[in-house]
Amino acid sequence: MTTQPLYYDCDTGIDDSVALAYLLASPEIDLVGVGTVSGNTDSAQAARNTLALIQVAGREDVPVAVGAAHPQAGTYAGPVPHIHGHNGVGDITLPDAARQPLSRSAADLIVDLARAHPGRLRLLTTGPLTNIAEALRREPALPRLVKDLTVMGGAAGRSGNVSPVAEANMANDPEAAAEVLAAPWDITLVPLDVTLAHTFDENDRRRLLESGRPLSTALGSMLDIYFEFYLSTYGRRCCALHDPLAAAIAVGGVTTLLAPVVDVVVDATHGPGRGQTICDLRGRYLGFPPQPGAHCRVVLEAGPGSASHILERVLTL
Ligand code: BDR
Ligand code: CA
Repeated sequence: MTTQPLYYDCDTGIDDSVALAYLLASPEIDLVGVGTVSGNTDSAQAARNTLALIQVAGREDVPVAVGAAHPQAGTYAGPVPHIHGHNGVGDITLPDAARQPLSRSAADLIVDLARAHPGRLRLLTTGPLTNIAEALRREPALPRLVKDLTVMGGAAGRSGNVSPVAEANMANDPEAAAEVLAAPWDITLVPLDVTLAHTFDENDRRRLLESGRPLSTALGSMLDIYFEFYLSTYGRRCCALHDPLAAAIAVGGVTTLLAPVVDVVVDATHGPGRGQTICDLRGRYLGFPPQPGAHCRVVLEAGPGSASHILERVLTL
């Protein structure tokens, strides 16, 4: 099997941590770099979390770069302790990483990797799109230099999770999201419509905690606070698999059942629609005929068994 080089951009984050573990356990890809961005926690803390998790997994080969501290317009709003804990990883203590992040920024790392793997690099993002927008400005040919881009974010045909219409990763940097989604990449958008339909529950958390494997045990511990947050959404202790599902779709471990290629525009105005991903899903009434010029595949349904696939793969680490 030829492994595909993949760069992962994240705001580590509890579900980002599960996605990172999934990527580290995936033989289909070669994780050639991770960049961090401010979202669930600030970009420097996200890099500390990422380096620590990679070390717990016993992998020292993956470069990690700190990305943008602030969104393109304005200032980072701060962490979300009620969702991801004060440190982004559910307030569990991870051992300090022996390695430091790269001296290059995440945007520089993206451009360097794209040039090093022309036409082959896959990009996956599970945080705000600030670093990708910055990389795009440094190298406007980036959409042609990389193979594709998978983005966890947006809400296509349902309400947002931080405003009536906006999902967190889009809302945290709408200017960057608008710029990135308008560029001519081959994009796969993995919005709340599908990520909220796939969950880990207490049985899955117990499997992680009782695995005897250091990274899985850490994930099981940090999921405690995340499960508590999602109690009000699902009425039981469990969590949505936002970022791990996007990772599994990017890698090809999870298949999509409904994923039309449609026009997507991000609202970067300052009105009530700020951060909304406006996806043209009118084709659903006609069996989704092709939309000339559309380059964004919006995942609306993924295969059953996605959660157990993600769990089993993480448990192999
Ligand atoms: C997204 O926002 C973040 O809090 C999660 O890590 C995920 O990437 C869900 O809206
Ligand atoms: Ca995230």
